[in-house]
Amino acid sequence: MLVSGNEILLKAHNKGYGVGAFNFVNFEMLKSIFESADEVSSPLIVQASEGAIKYMGIEMVVGMAKLFAHKYPHIPVALHLDHGTSFESCKNAIEAGFTSVMIDASHHSFEENLQITKEVVDFAHSRGVSVEAELGRLMGIEDNISVDEKDACLVNPKEAEVFVKETQVDFLAPAIGTSHGAFKFKGEPKLDFDRLLEVKKLTNIPLVLHGASAIPQEVRESFLQSGGDLKGSRGVPFDFLQEAVKGGINKINTDTDLRIAFIAEVRKVANANNSEFDLRKFFTPAMSAVKQVITQRMQLLGSANKI
Ligand code: G3H
Ligand code: 13P
Ligand code: ZN
Repeated sequence: MLVSGNEILLKAHNKGYGVGAFNFVNFEMLKSIFESADEVSSPLIVQASEGAIKYMGIEMVVGMAKLFAHKYPHIPVALHLDHGTSFESCKNAIEAGFTSVMIDASHHSFEENLQITKEVVDFAHSRGVSVEAELGRLMGIEDNISVDEKDACLVNPKEAEVFVKETQVDFLAPAIGTSHGAFKFKGEPKLDFDRLLEVKKLTNIPLVLHGASAIPQEVRESFLQSGGDLKGSRGVPFDFLQEAVKGGINKINTDTDLRIAFIAEVRKVANANNSEFDLRKFFTPAMSAVKQVITQRMQLLGSANKI
């Protein structure tokens, strides 16, 4: 059975570990994610973006997640809407069976973000569904960034305190210097851990790190070996992920690493045999590579053996 995100993240918040929230866009990704959680006995959050929902159809997203949850009844798992852009989008997801939603109104003014988030929280909480919101803008920060520039784009801890109190939101994603995709930092990786600590202290709820893909060495090499190009790419280093968890991050959003690992294997099969057309020959090694990334990440974040 799918459970609310609260069931998973409050434990992580109280015990100080991180739970991976993994994006999926098809059966193969979802299968890999569940098998990984089963392998290392980890609680789990599976998430679908609006784009993923459009691609698969919302009934398929919820149906597949429920079937996998049924197949692995010992795994506490939440189905989460990633970056919901409106009240309607969150409402649709909740009515379709999602057990957790993100309302991402971070590009609106603070007041508007607060208002929309409140509406989503009211609707979601009356149905036992947890809500995540975001404050600040997701963008990489550089060494020479000024204090003013930082304040303009990253989360303001005092605002976070007010926001959480007023909205009663369950989880907060504070912008501390990460960004989505494979090109997160122009120079050396940098995150504002002091800001994170301040937000945790003032809000005392589970916090979320978006743009948390690491692009591990072996995944990068595998992609390059397959003939892929990742010039200029940079992920969040493993020790940063661990420091983030120590600083109060409990939900770690991960998509890019899985995509890169998957596609590298698909391309290798295509390169090795240009007359191959059995889909399973492509997807079986791709799923193994994704599982390797996920099981390793669960160990790193501390969610392994937490069932
Ligand atoms: O936050 C973004 C996730 O990686 C989902 O991306 O909108 O391409 O599905 P998407
Ligand atoms: P990555 O692009 O770093 O995997 O981040 C995914 C994410 O934040 C989904 O919300
Ligand atoms: Zn995100």
